[in-house]
Amino acid sequence: MQELRLDGRVAVITGAGGGLGRSHALELARRGAYVVVNDLGGALDGQGSSASAAQHVADEITALGGVAVANHDSVATLEGGEAIVQTAIDAFGRVDVLINNAGILRDKAFHKMDADLINQVIDVHLKGAFFVTQPAFRRMREQRYGRIVSTSSASGLFGNFGQANYGAAKAGLAGLTRVLAIEGAEHGIAANAIAPIARTRMTEGILGELSPRVSPGSVSPLVAYLASEECSVNGHIYSVAGGRIARIFIGETEGMVLLENSAEAIRAHIGAIGEVVTTSFHEPSSLDAETTIIAKALTDAA
Ligand SMILES: NC(=O)c1ccc[n+]([C@@H]2O[C@H](COP(=O)([O-])OP(=O)(O)OC[C@H]3O[C@@H](n4cnc5c(N)ncnc54)[C@H](O)[C@@H]3O)[C@@H](O)[C@H]2O)c1
Repeated sequence: MQELRLDGRVAVITGAGGGLGRSHALELARRGAYVVVNDLGGALDGQGSSASAAQHVADEITALGGVAVANHDSVATLEGGEAIVQTAIDAFGRVDVLINNAGILRDKAFHKMDADLINQVIDVHLKGAFFVTQPAFRRMREQRYGRIVSTSSASGLFGNFGQANYGAAKAGLAGLTRVLAIEGAEHGIAANAIAPIARTRMTEGILGELSPRVSPGSVSPLVAYLASEECSVNGHIYSVAGGRIARIFIGETEGMVLLENSAEAIRAHIGAIGEVVTTSFHEPSSLDAETTIIAKALTDAA
């Protein structure tokens, strides 16, 4: 099989001082990418900072014969996002790949979650992705080439107790990915997302017997593919863990056009409205595509 290469491509990886981001950085560098290793170097809950996390991984890459520079700005501010992308421009003259990976956890049951916990998590995961992606996307549009891979989570796509802040931010990243895929397509930009499960400090003690089977390294090959010129998908979301990869998709049932559109009729038909007939569901590729489906259903029912 011919090797998939990223020679000369400039990749920015946020939160790459440890865990999944470090693994992605090593994998992309091994395949020839010039890497900006970004990491604020704080604790799991976002407290504190240290320049050494990013520098350490950049040094690891250099020691292995790769090319990398470190950056330790926070993704969670507009200025931080600009500075991270500017590091790539200053060091390598362009940015071809952006991996939105930086993240923190501040779990709490929803009824106890205060504004700080909500803001900090949304700032890093969701607004952070906006702050870094926007300057990168603008460059990618100009150069008519780009690959964006954002890190969503089963927590937001499927739900998880105690993670309203995190889950909402992660579901937001799926939405951002879908819109970037549409806006970027005509400019040679592909945007996809992953929902990984891996053994990192973020999941310490909660993966049980899955833990030894889900190394960060088992997630990075998918990231390398999605980051490559050969990536043939756009707007997709993949579940990835321990070498098992599946596509998560947003579909809708055939639905019903109710002759009498009343709360009482909906009460009577709610089961049928929600029923998934596996041979008959839609996977709209955009809002426009869904509107077309609705228009057809209404026409057919008239
Ligand atoms: N590990 C899993 O099973 C899992 C599951 C779903 C999603 N994720 C997501 O994967 C990503 C990586 O997580 P991980 O498991 O490797 O945990 P991790 O804590 O090892 O990695 C997150 C990194 O982001 C950095 N970071 C935090 N805030 C930052 C900021 N403001 N600016 C720059 N860097 C910052 C941290 O310093 C850390 O190195 C996260 O977005 C996480 O939510 C992980």
